[in-house]
Amino acid sequence: MYILSIDQGTTSTRAVLFDKQGLPAGVAQQEFTQYFPADGYVEHDAEEIWATTVTVCKKVMAEKGISASDIAAIGITNQRETTVVWDAETGKPIHHAIVWQDRRTAPLCKELQAAGKADMVSDKTGLLLDAYFSATKIAWQLDNVEGARELAEAGKLRFGTVDTFLLWRLTGGKSHKTDATNASRTNLFNIHTQEWDQELLDLFRVPACMLPQVEDCSADFGVTDPELFGGEIAITGIAGDQQAALFGQTCFEEGEIKSTYGTGCFMILNTGDKPLKSKNKMLTTVGFRLDGKTTYALEGSIFNAGTTIQWLRDGLRLFPDAVVTESLANKVGDNPGVYLVPAFTGLGAPYWDPNARGGIFGLTRDTGIKELVTAGLQSVCYQTKDLMEAMAADGVRPKALRVDGGMVVNNWVCQNMSDVLGITIDRPVVTETTALGVAYLAGLRVGFFESLDALKQHWQSDRRFEAKWDDEKRSTHYAGWLDAVDRVRTDK
Ligand code: G3P
Repeated sequence: MYILSIDQGTTSTRAVLFDKQGLPAGVAQQEFTQYFPADGYVEHDAEEIWATTVTVCKKVMAEKGISASDIAAIGITNQRETTVVWDAETGKPIHHAIVWQDRRTAPLCKELQAAGKADMVSDKTGLLLDAYFSATKIAWQLDNVEGARELAEAGKLRFGTVDTFLLWRLTGGKSHKTDATNASRTNLFNIHTQEWDQELLDLFRVPACMLPQVEDCSADFGVTDPELFGGEIAITGIAGDQQAALFGQTCFEEGEIKSTYGTGCFMILNTGDKPLKSKNKMLTTVGFRLDGKTTYALEGSIFNAGTTIQWLRDGLRLFPDAVVTESLANKVGDNPGVYLVPAFTGLGAPYWDPNARGGIFGLTRDTGIKELVTAGLQSVCYQTKDLMEAMAADGVRPKALRVDGGMVVNNWVCQNMSDVLGITIDRPVVTETTALGVAYLAGLRVGFFESLDALKQHWQSDRRFEAKWDDEKRSTHYAGWLDAVDRVRTDK
């Protein structure tokens, strides 16, 4: 028997089978189209997301030679905040999904900030009043798609983050639910009461009847339409991808911290049963909710990590495959002298400057491909340092960081991260922690996995990276980065 995890990320959809030891037993992946219709706009076609989901699930099952009855349960984890609005009757989205990176609603956020609403929003949601989150993305669709607002008010439209849309489709339109981690990323969910909040719904002009029911992360979300996979499969786990990675890294205890390097980079610290309010623009969010008990987390969100490497590869065509970046950086050493600030879609934590755009600094006549690539890799380490500094200013200074996601297979990145941060970097054997985390959540519900203690035993170290730079080198290089960031900021 297996758990099937659907990991619906920003650039690709993956289906991963996990066995009882929490080891991956099969993977299928498919990329899908990114739409950039205007500066700062990022969209996905939810139909294409759905099509890739069905394809990868069927593919991984066929490759393993298994059927629906061999799958104990399905877990869904997803790119968070990305907003889908669809017609309840036809199931058709009314517009392309507006992706978390999309900045089109920044002017609306600014208006609401000017009206003095920022504190109320952040007190209730733990987030900031920013275009990153779903609320203004819903309002934009209702205001810009003809007739949408009337239909929404008449109860004929549904909203969901991607988990909810997939759940709706997987269950043949029977289940309109989400989990507390995804709800906590909308700007509409009160993380203290664990309910949708009417004052927030009024502020963002979102009708309550569009919203999904909020469940624990490990719960009975519904069963798949038997037509899809040749039999019913229970869907018993849902979590936003970053929270799923926290769970997959088994950061169950207060003080444990992980950072995931996918499209963006997201550092999450478990703060136990207390929502810790940051004074340094970190986000307070739901880490996971089990048996009605909420574990809170402090999060630093960076918008561009993997996208930087993707841009160097596909936009500038500097190399054919990301795999060569490690050897290119090894030729440069630990500091290229060039700083690349990848603010393609603005700056996230701790700056929150949606109008900033990227820049490259320190170019000399002998700067070449390898220096630019190294600067791109290093930007991820420096951005992580920005988050660590903000957390330190909030009184948290971890000694070690668990890392995962596509980029951490690169040893140069992990070593440089340790040097830049001045702490230990721990890389686990299974770096598919996002998919693994939601497999754990789904499996716990159906008895496939026993307990959190048993899951802790699964975590195994692949490699530990220790810092080699001295403090002086660390602060000199970091000062260069801060200077570069300062030059692209628009809000000083
Ligand atoms: O908040 C956005 C995040 O969930 C996206 O994750 O893995 O697609 O970069 P990822």
